[in-house]
Amino acid sequence: MKEIKIESTLYVFENLGELPNDVFKLMEKAVAARKKAYAPYSNFNVGAAILLDNGEVVLGSNQENASYPSGLCAERTAIYYAGSQFPNAKIVRMAITAGSKNNKTSKPIPPCGACRQAIAEYEIKQHTPIEIYFMGETGAIAKSNSLANLLPLGFDKNVL
Ligand code: THU
Repeated sequence: MKEIKIESTLYVFENLGELPNDVFKLMEKAVAARKKAYAPYSNFNVGAAILLDNGEVVLGSNQENASYPSGLCAERTAIYYAGSQFPNAKIVRMAITAGSKNNKTSKPIPPCGACRQAIAEYEIKQHTPIEIYFMGETGAIAKSNSLANLLPLGFDKNVL
C-alpha cells in the first residue's frame, strides 16, 4: 500500500479592496447577479460572473423550483449560458458570491461539487486554466488558479 497526498493551494484576499481592479469589477458584477437570484425556498442567493477571452461577461444566479432538484446553481446557469452563446471563447475567470438572506456570510463560499464538475469540463475543453474567485457577502475572497485545484481526482473524458 502506498499513500498518495493531494495538495491544493488557495490565495486569500482580505477584502474587496485587495483585489486587482479588473477582478474587483467582475466581483461587483457577480454581486449584482446575486441580487437577481430566484431562491424563495432556500433564501440562499448566489451570483456568478464569467469573463471570456473575447471580453464578454456572462452572469448567472441560482434559479430554484418548487420541485427542488429542478433548480440550478448560479455557476452552472452562467457557464452553460457562456458555453451555449460563445462556444469558441475561452473562460478566463469566474467570480462567485453567495449569501443567505437569514444571516450575513463573511467567509468565502466555494462552488458546490456539481458546479466544480461542470466548470472542470470547460477547463479541460479549452486547455487553459480557469481562475475561480469566491466570497460570501462580505469579507475575504479566496482564489484558486484553476478549477482542477478545487476538484482533485476529477472524473473526466479520459476515463470513458
Ligand atoms: N447554490 C448555488 O447557486 N451554487 C453553489 O455552488 C451552491 C448552491 C444554490 C443552489 C440553491 O438554490 C441554493 O444555493 C441553496 O443550496
